[in-house]
Amino acid sequence: MYSLLTQLAAGVLVLAFSASALPASDGSSLTTNVTNCLNSYQVPFEDSTSSNWTSLITPYNLRLFWYPAIVTLPYTPQHVSASVICAAAAGLKVQAKSGGHSYASYSSGGQNGSLIVDLQNFNGVSVNNATGIATVGGGVRLGNLALDIYAQGQRALPHGTCPGVGIGGHFTHGGYGHSSRLWGLGLDTIVALDVVLANGSYIHVTPTQYPSIYFAMRGAADSFGIAVNFYLQTHPAPWSVINFSASIPQVLDNATIVTEALLGLQTTVADPSYINGNISFGIYTDSSGAFSLSGWCIECDVSTFNSITFPKLLESFPPPSSQSATPLGWIDSLTNLANGEALNVPLYGYDMHDTFYAKSIVTKEAAPPTHAEWLGFWTFVTGPGRSAPNPWYSIINLYGGAGSQINVPPANASAYSDRDALWVFQNYASHASPFPTSTVVPFLDNLTSSLAAGNNATDFGIYLNYADPDLSARQVARLGYGTSTYERLLAIKRRVDPRDVFWNPQAVGNVGLAEVMDG
Ligand SMILES: Cc1cc2nc3c(=O)[nH]c(=O)nc-3n(C[C@H](O)[C@H](O)[C@H](O)COP(=O)(O)OP(=O)(O)OC[C@H]3O[C@@H](n4cnc5c(N)ncnc54)[C@H](O)[C@@H]3O)c2cc1C
Ligand SMILES: *[C@@H]1O[C@H](CO)[C@@H](O)[C@H](O)[C@H]1NC(C)=O
Ligand SMILES: *[C@@H]1O[C@H](CO)[C@@H](O)[C@H](O)[C@H]1NC(C)=O
Ligand SMILES: *[C@@H]1O[C@H](CO)[C@@H](O)[C@H](O)[C@H]1NC(C)=O
Ligand SMILES: *[C@@H]1O[C@H](CO)[C@@H](O)[C@H](O)[C@H]1NC(C)=O
Ligand SMILES: *[C@@H]1O[C@H](CO)[C@@H](O)[C@H](O)[C@H]1NC(C)=O
Ligand SMILES: *[C@@H]1O[C@H](CO)[C@@H](O)[C@H](O)[C@H]1NC(C)=O
Ligand SMILES: *[C@@H]1O[C@H](CO)[C@@H](O)[C@H](O)[C@H]1NC(C)=O
Ligand SMILES: *[C@@H]1O[C@H](CO)[C@@H](O)[C@H](O)[C@H]1NC(C)=O
Ligand SMILES: *[C@@H]1O[C@H](CO)[C@@H](O)[C@H](O)[C@H]1NC(C)=O
Ligand SMILES: *[C@@H]1O[C@H](CO)[C@@H](O)[C@H](O)[C@H]1NC(C)=O
Ligand SMILES: *[C@@H]1O[C@H](CO)[C@@H](O)[C@H](O)[C@H]1NC(C)=O
Repeated sequence: MYSLLTQLAAGVLVLAFSASALPASDGSSLTTNVTNCLNSYQVPFEDSTSSNWTSLITPYNLRLFWYPAIVTLPYTPQHVSASVICAAAAGLKVQAKSGGHSYASYSSGGQNGSLIVDLQNFNGVSVNNATGIATVGGGVRLGNLALDIYAQGQRALPHGTCPGVGIGGHFTHGGYGHSSRLWGLGLDTIVALDVVLANGSYIHVTPTQYPSIYFAMRGAADSFGIAVNFYLQTHPAPWSVINFSASIPQVLDNATIVTEALLGLQTTVADPSYINGNISFGIYTDSSGAFSLSGWCIECDVSTFNSITFPKLLESFPPPSSQSATPLGWIDSLTNLANGEALNVPLYGYDMHDTFYAKSIVTKEAAPPTHAEWLGFWTFVTGPGRSAPNPWYSIINLYGGAGSQINVPPANASAYSDRDALWVFQNYASHASPFPTSTVVPFLDNLTSSLAAGNNATDFGIYLNYADPDLSARQVARLGYGTSTYERLLAIKRRVDPRDVFWNPQAVGNVGLAEVMDG
């Protein structure tokens, strides 16, 4: 443990933890005033009286707007510790905010009245040229991360496409991008973390130092601590990435034909004579009838890709109406994926938003979607999906398949236990405010459950980074973590955060093991 006690005013720390300063066990008398407490530790913070309060608390997803009690803006790990200590003493729940892109706005608390620790001042990135390990502040956004590690020695990491997404949520709940089949999820590159725990301790966490915290932070950080710094094993940036895409809307003319095309593709992706970790793609379809398959081939020979790999991927489809395969450098490839958003994101005052609801489905490699399941989905897409109450899209990314590194780590090596994913679906609908929740949510429920048409859907899971606020804590425990991982997480939670200081509506600890196992 770092010498927190010598850096904080030890007397005040002890006071904050003395029985008289803690809330009564029934929560009735809170003796600590959070404002006074933060002031005593000189923690920078803002509250509803601040002129920039609204911009500070506005989440990426405007559909889910929560009002925190207070937002701290720490500059040092000691400020983070004191934020957590003061919140706990005042009986406030805590969530960290990194990029603020939680689909459920959990970095605004997921309820009114939480204390938010905004990590925007932890924005450093530094690569150790000897080890290739990048030390990255917990508030760094993905676009800046990619640019900085590339500038400091042409390094690269696997991560998602949106430059404004933060490392804090993304790397602790998965972190998928087109280099993930080659290098694993963002989470898999974490070799160490600096973490503030619920009791304010600031610890350096590795596979051997605090191994249970290392386990829990990788998949369930929102419930266990605040990652102030990440230590990430980078890779040399690829010298070339083929950016490929094929548009095949006519495959949707007939649900049987698209079903058979997907089953053919499902056979191809399992074939190591054609598919390795360098190849990655997703399928995009939407309410207007678009259908495309696009992705990357990393460090691939263009003529081999065009003569063998691409035709093989498209073998079971009708001829595309258009297709392309363009080799690009690493940074151009990331820029190309970013949908016109610049990779370079301002350190302060980020102001992009959407108003949306999304659901995920993770299908298992051991039990790939059957003919009946695909037919259920495509029948819905080509039927009710065309008369939806709102525009929507679905992206179906390949996580599994031959050579995928996503499924290599053991399921019990981290709280991110899903190491048997084949396809991961994201079903997404956005709409200007006010969002028509009462029609769009049931529609997306129907779209999502159509894959299970007539089945029990026991083989499907959810992706933790697409937080779905309509799921109960029990469903997240079962579908996101699985019962054996949840059991282990619950035991750690009871030990390091028995009063549920780190809380959102789906946090570990909200539901007991018996309820999770039941039924
Ligand atoms: C436009 C867009 C594009 C996306 N693209 C992809 C993609 O390509 N691939 C993919 O896998 N996902 C993608 N996502 C999902 C994304 O990975 C998650 O929303 C992610 O959790 C956001 O991270 P954040 O730091 O921005 O979120 P935040 O809202 O800041 O945090 C999310 C959760 O993590 C917790 N948290 C944040 N920082 C820390 C920390 N330092 N320590 C502990 N807990 C912390 C928060 O308390 C909250 O519970 C995308 C999301 C959006 C909105
Ligand atoms: C905390 O104390 C300040 C004055 O020091 C006061 O203005 C504020 O209302 C108090 N807050 C609570 C929640 O009691
Ligand atoms: C809030 O506004 C004040 C002054 O207007 C500024 O000094 C401060 O940096 C702002 N804080 C944030 C987090 O934007
Ligand atoms: C949260 O606070 C806002 C603003 O005060 C209020 O409009 C909203 O109803 C509150 N939500 C809940 C669930 O209490
Ligand atoms: C790492 O290498 C890059 C060039 O590849 C150089 O610009 C940078 O200064 C080096 N960093 C350190 C800390 O040596
Ligand atoms: C990459 O592919 C997409 C889809 O075809 C295309 O829109 C884009 O222009 C390509 N980018 C480059 C730089 O070729
Ligand atoms: C869809 O395709 C299947 C298989 O080719 C065919 O049997 C069926 O008649 C087609 N249905 C329609 C509505 O065209
Ligand atoms: C895959 O990419 C790696 C570099 O990341 C390269 O060494 C290897 O040759 C590539 N393999 C194939 C089959 O393209
Ligand atoms: C993890 O699972 C493997 C089997 O896959 C087992 O050998 C190992 O003991 C497990 N580790 C823990 C900590 O449960
Ligand atoms: C969802 O499906 C149910 C059951 O089939 C149906 O009653 C309902 O109208 C559908 N809702 C939407 C919005 O598609
Ligand atoms: C669903 O599962 C239940 C219990 O496992 C079983 O009785 C039922 O037949 C299953 N239904 C279908 C459609 O597979
Ligand atoms: C805080 O909790 C951690 C993990 O349980 C423990 O190792 C540490 O000793 C605790 N620190 C204090 C000051 O109680």
